[in-house]
Amino acid sequence: MKVGIDLIHFATADYYLGLDTFAAEKHIDVEKFTIGIGQEKMSIAPPDEDVVSLAAKAAAPILEHIEANEISAVLFATETGVDQSKSAGAFLHGLLGLSNRCRVIELKHACYAGAAALQMATSMIRANPKEKILVIAADIAKYDVDTSGEATQGCGAVAMLVTEAPRIIEIEPGSGFYTDDVMDFWRPNHRTTALVDGKYSTKVYLNSLKHAWKHFTEQTNRTFDDIDYFCYHIPFTKMAEKAHKTLVKKVGAKLTQAQIDAQTLPSQLYNRIVGNSYSASLFVGFISLLDNIDSHLHNLEGKRVSFFSYGSGCVAEFFTGVIQPGYQKVLMTDEHKTTIAHRQALSYQEYLDFYHNVDNALENVVFPVNNQGPYRLAGIKDHKRYYEKSH
Ligand code: CAA
Repeated sequence: MKVGIDLIHFATADYYLGLDTFAAEKHIDVEKFTIGIGQEKMSIAPPDEDVVSLAAKAAAPILEHIEANEISAVLFATETGVDQSKSAGAFLHGLLGLSNRCRVIELKHACYAGAAALQMATSMIRANPKEKILVIAADIAKYDVDTSGEATQGCGAVAMLVTEAPRIIEIEPGSGFYTDDVMDFWRPNHRTTALVDGKYSTKVYLNSLKHAWKHFTEQTNRTFDDIDYFCYHIPFTKMAEKAHKTLVKKVGAKLTQAQIDAQTLPSQLYNRIVGNSYSASLFVGFISLLDNIDSHLHNLEGKRVSFFSYGSGCVAEFFTGVIQPGYQKVLMTDEHKTTIAHRQALSYQEYLDFYHNVDNALENVVFPVNNQGPYRLAGIKDHKRYYEKSH
């Protein structure tokens, strides 16, 4: 039985901060960002956008292709959840009008939870092939102003319909994983911004990749040459470049720069202009590969794609999938390109105004309308969040 991603759609906020604007404000050479970390823009969420509204925006187009009551579970991966008890998926369930005969749960482990949710969904479907599971990975990456992490913010949500006989990619059984209790990046409960030991986090990421890869080869007997395209968790695109070079070196492959670029570059294009979206970022990378590869020259049908998920703290997993015949017919490439292109640029001051007006601790607040998307966070009343469908 083949199980995997039948439909996939991505959403981000309506605003971005250019790293050229950021560099000018901070009096830093812009090439530190465009070349040094490989980022050009970061999507910025206004106060009336959170992971629930982003997830609803990502999932709505998928609901146009399936009856809402066919969804048997929502697995919502996020590390920027909106409530310590109620799952973000429960708010989403209401906004999308899903059936009461549907289970909903939120999953967390830093940027890893999206991959965990996808793997959990495939296992549930292998146990019961009638299930159709909506997997959401949604996050808003936020660091303190004037810290090294500030240039690596961003946000986004990916919605994936996971089913039997998937039309886009079969997720293959067998994966390699690695866990270690480390403090490279964390966000205590009282904080809205993450804390990070930046340089250390990049070392732990690469070390985890080596361990997860070794376990993957032992579990599957697959080799580097069995994989055509490589998708990585992308906190910033240079990290994915470093990851691939580390893997190439580890397996002793003799590749030209052009061959390395062909294996990885298409999967980095969206992340370069969206920024980090934590649990979603690996799947934004996969969508970027699907949307940006020149499919006339490189038809992906039958090609094997690898996924490396890294969540600080840390858990990592390496797994693969095979692209299905006819996949191009169900891609939502135009929607993704329009969403990204239609974002409005913010000045540094406008970014700060958004930044400082996100306050989940408020008991009562009505948010001004900045979010132009189909769903928005209208306000908080008596500590309860209220969402509205705008159009
Ligand atoms: N022109 C070209 N390149 C330049 C440059 C210039 N003018 N100035 C600097 N650079 C290069 C540097 O040489 C460096 O390259 P190398 O990494 O290849 O050495 C690169 O730009 C970055 O410069 P710095 O190391 O000086 O940058 P920094 O100290 O400001 O911080 C960072 C970089 C640690 C990644 C920081 O952005 C950060 O803390 N980010 C958040 C944490 C993060 O994303 N970690 C990733 C792994 S953890 C993870 O993946 C989970 C997650 O999502 C958070």
